[in-house]
Amino acid sequence: MGKLDGRVVLITGAARGQGEKEARLFAAEGAKVVVADVLDDQGETVAKDIGSGAVYVHLDVSKEEEWQAAVEAATGAFGKIDGLVNNAGILRFNELTSTPLDEFQQIVNVNQVGAFLGIKTVAPVIEAAGGGTIVNTASYTGVTGMAYVGAYTATKHAIVGLTRVAALELAAKKIRVNAVCPGAIDTAMSNPAQLDPTANTEEAAEALDELYRKLVPLGRVGKPEEVARLALFLTAEEDSAYITGQPFVIDGGWLAGVSVL
Ligand SMILES: NC(=O)c1ccc[n+]([C@@H]2O[C@H](COP(=O)([O-])OP(=O)(O)OC[C@H]3O[C@@H](n4cnc5c(N)ncnc54)[C@H](O)[C@@H]3O)[C@@H](O)[C@H]2O)c1
Repeated sequence: MGKLDGRVVLITGAARGQGEKEARLFAAEGAKVVVADVLDDQGETVAKDIGSGAVYVHLDVSKEEEWQAAVEAATGAFGKIDGLVNNAGILRFNELTSTPLDEFQQIVNVNQVGAFLGIKTVAPVIEAAGGGTIVNTASYTGVTGMAYVGAYTATKHAIVGLTRVAALELAAKKIRVNAVCPGAIDTAMSNPAQLDPTANTEEAAEALDELYRKLVPLGRVGKPEEVARLALFLTAEEDSAYITGQPFVIDGGWLAGVSVL
C-alpha cells in the first residue's frame, strides 16, 4: 500500500530539482502524477522514466490559459486531480534599489501569480473530486528576510499569506492547504554550477558544503528528496489529515537562532 494510492497529483516545476523528486516519490507511493514545467524535454524524460503513472504537460504557471489546458490534459489522462504541488519558482539576485521593475514583475509572475493561478484553477477540480490537498512552495525567505533577494522574498512571504487564506476558504470544500519553506537545498537554484557544463562541479559542491557547514546547525545543505518527503507528508491524508493553513520550515535549523561561535 502506498500513501498516495488512488490519488492524482499535479506538480509544477517538476522537470528537475525538488519538483522532480516530488514526482518520483509521489509515484512510488502510488499516485498518478502530472509533471508540469516549461522545460519540455526534461519534463518528458522524467514522466517517461516514471512510466504509465505519469504524464508530462507543458505549463508556464504565470499564464492562466496554460493552467486551463494543463488541467484538461491531466483530467483527460487520469480522470481527476485531487492534489496540487505549486513548486515552480525562479530566483534572481539584486539589491532592491538596483532591481529593474521588469525583473521584480517577472519573479512575482512566476512565483506568486503562478501559485495564485494554481489555487484558482485547480481547487474547483479538487473539490469536484471530493476534496484533497494543495502544497505551496514558499521558502525560509517566506518567514524571514534575506538581503539581495528582495523580489523573491516578497513573493515567498506572499505565498505564506495565500496559503493561510486558501486554507480558510477551502476547508469546507475538504481541501487542505499548507506550505513548505525550504532553507538551502542542493538544486540548480542554489547551486547553478549544476547547469553549467564548464563548471567544476566538485569545487562548487565543496564551496557549498563549506558555506552551509558554518551557517546551518545540522551542518549541511538540504537534499531535494528531503523536501519531497515533507510535501508527501502534507499530501498524504493518513499523515496530515488535521493540518491546514501552515508554513513548515525545513532548513536544518538555520532559522532556529543565532550562534555566538
Ligand atoms: N533550492 C533552494 O535552496 C530553495 C530554497 C527555498 C525554496 N525553494 C523553492 O523550491 C522550488 C523548487 O526549486 P528548486 O530548488 O527545485 O530549483 P530548480 O531551479 O531546480 O527548479 C525550479 C523548476 O521550476 C521550473 N519553472 C521555472 N519557471 C517556471 C514557469 N514559469 N512555469 C513552470 N515551471 C517553471 C523550472 O523549469 C524548474 O524545473 C521553487 O519554488 C523555489 O523557489 C528552493
